[in-house]
Amino acid sequence: MSTRVGILVSGRGSNMVSLIEAEKAGKLGGAEVALVISDVGDALALEKARERGVEAIHIQMEAEKARLTENDEERMIAELDERGVNLVCLAGFMRVLCHRMLPGYTGKMMNIHPSLLPSFPGLEVQRKALEYGVRYSGCTVHFVTEDVDCGPIIIQAVVPILQDDTPDELSARILKQEHRIYPQAVAWYAQGKLRVEGRRVFVEGGYSWEEG
Ligand code: GRF
Repeated sequence: MSTRVGILVSGRGSNMVSLIEAEKAGKLGGAEVALVISDVGDALALEKARERGVEAIHIQMEAEKARLTENDEERMIAELDERGVNLVCLAGFMRVLCHRMLPGYTGKMMNIHPSLLPSFPGLEVQRKALEYGVRYSGCTVHFVTEDVDCGPIIIQAVVPILQDDTPDELSARILKQEHRIYPQAVAWYAQGKLRVEGRRVFVEGGYSWEEG
């Protein structure tokens, strides 16, 4: 079965672009980005997706806070189902899913987070990493489970933290790696190479360590 990807976004969409561009370059393991959904009407991501020929829609959520309502999730599921989406990628989607999406997409939903989980879950994590004084940070692609930023880890990349870094400089260094590892995680998934055992995710054929 071919992998049809739905990407959920709220903002600028640079990770979304990295997935779309990887598909165009034949580097998404045969997966196809079928739909982009944003909860923010003027999110830059919507424009960027459409410019690249990908259908992108805004759904006005009824939830005022981060946690979506059952009805919000049902409307998203209906749009995803209509396009035959079988893998959901969260890419800067600033909402918490908790009703039907989670059980329905177990093992079929990924997220990217700009820290080396389980360190620094949540928000503003680059600033928190700097303030804590860690020497390395990075990014993580993981399967989504009920607990936010806690699901089985698919791939991580490490970046150094330099003494004079600002949160923005660190974010930019991490983002570069995000754009490398998210397409890799989706490609592995599409190629049927991922196997989850408890918390551990095994990649068929193993994975290599790359510098940079
Ligand atoms: C990224 O740092 C991602 O790790 C986090 O939200 C940010 C989204 O950035 N979940 P973008 O919209 O993909 O540029």
